[in-house]
Amino acid sequence: MQSYRFFRLAILAATVCLGQLRAADSPREHLSLDANWKFHLGDDWPSALHLNKAGASTGPAAEKFGDSAWRSLNLPHDWAIELPFDPNADANHGFKPVGPGYARNSIGWYRRTFELPAEDSGKRIWLTFDGVFRDATVWVNGWLVKRHEGGYYPFREDITDVVHFGGKNTVAVRVDATKFEGWFYEGAGIYRHVWLDKTAPVAIAPEGVFVQVSFTNKNVPEGPAKVFVTTDLNYANTNSPKYFSTAVDAWVNYKLLTPNGETDELKDARLITPNPIKLLDKSGALVTFDIPSPILWSPENPKLYKLITTVSVDGKVVDQKETTFGIRTVGFDKDKGFLLNGKPYELYGTCNHQDMAGVGAALPDALQYFRIAKLKEFGCNAYRTSHNPPTPELLDACDRLGMIIMDESRLLGSDSENLKKWDDQIRRDRNHPSVAIWSVANEEFTVQSTPQAGNVARTMQNLVKSLDPTRPVTYAAPQGDTFDGINGVIEVRGWNYHPGGDMDKYHAKHPDQPNVGTEQASTVCTRGIYADDKARGYVSAYDIRGTQTAERWWSYFADRPWLSGGFVWTGFDYRGEPTPYSWPCINSHFGVLDMCGFPKDNFYYYQAWWTTNIVLHLLPHWNWAGKEGQEIRVDALSNCEEVELFLNGASLGKQTMKRNSKLSWPVKYAPGTLSAKGFNGGKLVAEQKVETTGDATQIQLTPNRKTINADGTDVSVFTVSALDAQGRTVPVAQNKINFSIEGAGKIIGVGNGDPSCHEPDTFVAQPPVKALPVHNWRWKLAALPPKRGALIPEYAPELDDSAWNTLKAKTDGDTGEMPLKEGEFAVYRAHIKLTEDDLKNPGIQVRFGTIDDHGWIFVNNQRVGESHDWQAQALCDIKKAVHIGDNVIAVGVRNDAGEGGLNPDVNMEIVGPAVESPWSRSLFNGLAQIMVQSTKDAGEIKLTANADGLQPVTATLTTQAGAACPSVP
Ligand code: GAL
Repeated sequence: MQSYRFFRLAILAATVCLGQLRAADSPREHLSLDANWKFHLGDDWPSALHLNKAGASTGPAAEKFGDSAWRSLNLPHDWAIELPFDPNADANHGFKPVGPGYARNSIGWYRRTFELPAEDSGKRIWLTFDGVFRDATVWVNGWLVKRHEGGYYPFREDITDVVHFGGKNTVAVRVDATKFEGWFYEGAGIYRHVWLDKTAPVAIAPEGVFVQVSFTNKNVPEGPAKVFVTTDLNYANTNSPKYFSTAVDAWVNYKLLTPNGETDELKDARLITPNPIKLLDKSGALVTFDIPSPILWSPENPKLYKLITTVSVDGKVVDQKETTFGIRTVGFDKDKGFLLNGKPYELYGTCNHQDMAGVGAALPDALQYFRIAKLKEFGCNAYRTSHNPPTPELLDACDRLGMIIMDESRLLGSDSENLKKWDDQIRRDRNHPSVAIWSVANEEFTVQSTPQAGNVARTMQNLVKSLDPTRPVTYAAPQGDTFDGINGVIEVRGWNYHPGGDMDKYHAKHPDQPNVGTEQASTVCTRGIYADDKARGYVSAYDIRGTQTAERWWSYFADRPWLSGGFVWTGFDYRGEPTPYSWPCINSHFGVLDMCGFPKDNFYYYQAWWTTNIVLHLLPHWNWAGKEGQEIRVDALSNCEEVELFLNGASLGKQTMKRNSKLSWPVKYAPGTLSAKGFNGGKLVAEQKVETTGDATQIQLTPNRKTINADGTDVSVFTVSALDAQGRTVPVAQNKINFSIEGAGKIIGVGNGDPSCHEPDTFVAQPPVKALPVHNWRWKLAALPPKRGALIPEYAPELDDSAWNTLKAKTDGDTGEMPLKEGEFAVYRAHIKLTEDDLKNPGIQVRFGTIDDHGWIFVNNQRVGESHDWQAQALCDIKKAVHIGDNVIAVGVRNDAGEGGLNPDVNMEIVGPAVESPWSRSLFNGLAQIMVQSTKDAGEIKLTANADGLQPVTATLTTQAGAACPSVP
């Protein structure tokens, strides 16, 4: 059974609302715009942006621009991950040559065309970017539509006015990653999704539906859940004056669907008794539902409800949108700590940055699910989006898989720009049940103790309360017993480090303020390494360095429920911050998991104390040839009451485990089997062994999913390992593995978790570029046309220029001949010959050394580009203008000051089809990872791995037709 709740949303004045709704007719289309972009790295059109006149921007910003030589790719895309490592680049950003000091690699251009059918005329067209690193300038059909600063916030624009209905449209995006924001790897490019939305003129506003749930007794979910829904509508129409002059009577109705696990949720629709309807204001309306016996959301039972909001005007459905939400309460208690659904709930959290092995910051959605599932394996139930707003798909994964989110802003600030971004973040994320707390900022060292920082934090906190009254707010404070500034105004005191006397002292002085461990641990360990090695940049995985160990922070927090638990720095390793070393180490060691998600030994420490599983894990591995007779420390990570250790069957003693700790034995090495037994109440409950293996003989490929959707986005993550003749993983294997793929899939990234590995994560197919110098330039002074870029007779291909001046070629250490005086205009001409084969290539372009000061470039009388920066190269795509045989390039050059002209250092570049390079990756301590993405084709995917001296292996994935996200072709 299903029921509709109707209410009227008075936009201007009331009119009549007619009967039945036809939801299927909703004109809303939410389309992915991720596929089929063209990309160019480099600031080859530095003066493209023109602010003098509308539509005046040039180069790739212009509607008519050739991008034939550009690379084709799909989003999300991170070009930083594709760059080689550079020891001179910023260590905190992972030694990638991008950002300050690397101008050549820091600007990227993206272009894409799409058709809009004539029938769409009358609809509103929206362009949304979920995140671009970093500053983005966006043009649509040559119109400048957006300038957005910052790398983590979404932005959108209603582009209806400038699109061509019934024709081709062009989006051009200039991305400027010259400036860093964080102190960690941030990527570069359009690294999150892009969407094209089509709606009716009256439609649900972006982020316009807000679902809030509460119970009579606030934090305690007793009795019926009250669901409050507000909907904001957008009202815009440029095509029909009717909508501006007369009243529009919009009606909104809701359908609520309960969670039902795996089956079709629509069948589970249930009747909701209507309540009286309240109107909020002109554009928003509030309606409430009562749910008598709600199914509560929690990380352990992540059940989701759905709300279908339907808007109709004049009896016709004009919009319909689905909103996923959950029913749960969150709160913080000064004594009991964090409360979920009214009960104390210890936060077993991890902080995480957003990048991963293989793909950098550009994660296909499947990898968000992969990562959240990995964190859950060791009992992690909470995730802090340090130090920036997350991508929406991460929150979707947390809603569905069950993970609590601390949702953090990028920067502390109450200026209108920062508040607008904070407002956007809250509105975008507040329907997610996973989001339980907001964090206004992290470690704002410079200002945090000042009264002004307190004011700013209060303003940000107040904004949360006005947009989302049920969620608490914190600040990740790297301070001890300090109440000045932010700590004195923030609702929940956040603790970055400082376990010890400081916390107890602070709590005693401010007993009414709740607390949370926003950031703890900063433990450094390398997977499979058992001795520090500064030269290679590895840290021992025994986790015994100083005060920042897992055991130290966790045993302190576990004893103090008022601290609410906390968030480990970090769940996964990330690029940059190679603490405690530097080059050759290029990524962090803080993770419980490495960059690929392979567990380090600490994984089992947390699993022992954060889950109810019986855990027994031994470290290190037992392949220590050459160390026979030497003492080796053996640790047991376990939650068993007692653990007994054996070497080759002989007991080395039984020890009693203290809560939240671990056990150790000194063991004289002999190859064979190290084993352990775990006891609870004297009863054997667990056994574990580590064996000395033989040499690697074969490769193993293990996918995390054997069937993926044939939608061009889904991913299976393969673990690559080397086995000995008995099929045991060889923990010290470092073989280089080569990969090849056939069928309906492609490889998108490789990794191995080695923090000092400089092998590429991605093998981008590169096009061969044949550069041919363009010689024999002739030039002649001419009259500057009144419209500077206009065609003049001197550009005509058939013109005889043999009597014109010749131009001396550039010699080394010389800028070449610059014959023009101040104020002069001249035409330069040269001939290029092209064969039929040349024209078969995807790209043909001309690269000019210097055009001083302004140049208008024509090929065979067609304008192909212009140049207005005498210090920069000019690059023009000429593919569309050329033909087999003789072609004439003509450049009108105007010199403003000093000497000027065209430097004859000009090359024609023939850009061939991109050539795939073979993928490979070395194992690191026995493991590597390879990510395989489906294409849209049906069929199997076969991945083959081979290595010198090892038996190769082929693994097969099947693909299934799935509900692919609707996309723009
Ligand atoms: C913290 C900081 C993190 C990271 C960490 C490394 O103070 O918040 O972003 O830098 O230190 O230990």
